[in-house]
Amino acid sequence: MGKRFGLIGHPVEHSMSPVMHNDAFRSCQIDATYEAFDVGAGDLEEVAEKLRSGELDGVNVTIPHKVAIMNFLDEIDRDAEVIGAVNTIVRRGEKLIGYNTDGAGYWESLVSYLPHDTSALNVLVIGAGGASRAVCAAFLNAGVAHLVVANRTEEKAATLLNLINTKQQSTEACSLAEAKTKLNQFDVVINTSSVGMSPHTDQLPLSLDNLKKDAVVSDLIYNPMETAFLKEAKAKGAITVNGVGMFVNQGALSFEHWTGVKPDRSRMTNIVTNKLGG
Ligand code: ATR
Repeated sequence: MGKRFGLIGHPVEHSMSPVMHNDAFRSCQIDATYEAFDVGAGDLEEVAEKLRSGELDGVNVTIPHKVAIMNFLDEIDRDAEVIGAVNTIVRRGEKLIGYNTDGAGYWESLVSYLPHDTSALNVLVIGAGGASRAVCAAFLNAGVAHLVVANRTEEKAATLLNLINTKQQSTEACSLAEAKTKLNQFDVVINTSSVGMSPHTDQLPLSLDNLKKDAVVSDLIYNPMETAFLKEAKAKGAITVNGVGMFVNQGALSFEHWTGVKPDRSRMTNIVTNKLGG
């Protein structure tokens, strides 16, 4: 019988992971299927049991279970430990191991737009939720000159940096108003907040009036594929990167953990882009 993989979260009905992974299994000639499971917090232990018994062979974990699921696993990979959340579970022998592919997936999607040496970059990350943690961890891992996290609730930005800046790199937390005034200092600007996501597509997380020429601007949102934030950045001459790449790469890295096979990322990108109507 084929292997069974899936996504656990709530809600999951609009997830693009099933169509993306099922196509990747087919095209890699792997006998496996991937389904979305809408589960509540009370069901996590049962999911872990199904993984242990072999009824399920691996899962992705999404909102709101990325932190709570960690209580039911045997080992947490280092990236997931730093980010403080798990988005991929793999069974190895008797053990359930938690990984987080969001940060590495994000980095894969951005790195080709950055200079080879990232050590001189000034980076601004907008938002201080779970997605921001993964992105900030990726920048700290790579090494940049200075990393600023701006958030509507400024204390959350400070808390996030306290948690993940374990090597005392150069970082700073600030308000959105402060980020706006010093925007021209940043080489890379990333929106990790939910501002601009469908259906509120006309909203911008930060005014870009003061954007540096030739900045790289990325948005983790992929619905819409081009947010108002990216449109505005493009109009100002910035290089823009949408959220499809992060979504595809986090999925591709999960797939590699489960199967040991590297799926075709451009094929996955086409599937997701078509589904989004692009
Ligand atoms: P995720 O796990 O996807 O990152 P999250 O943890 O809910 O989601 O984080 C959402 C982020 O978007 C937060 O930084 C949030 O700011 P607060 O910490 O102040 O709540 C930000 N955000 C959401 N709606 C916002 C809005 N209308 N204006 C500014 N920031 C907003």
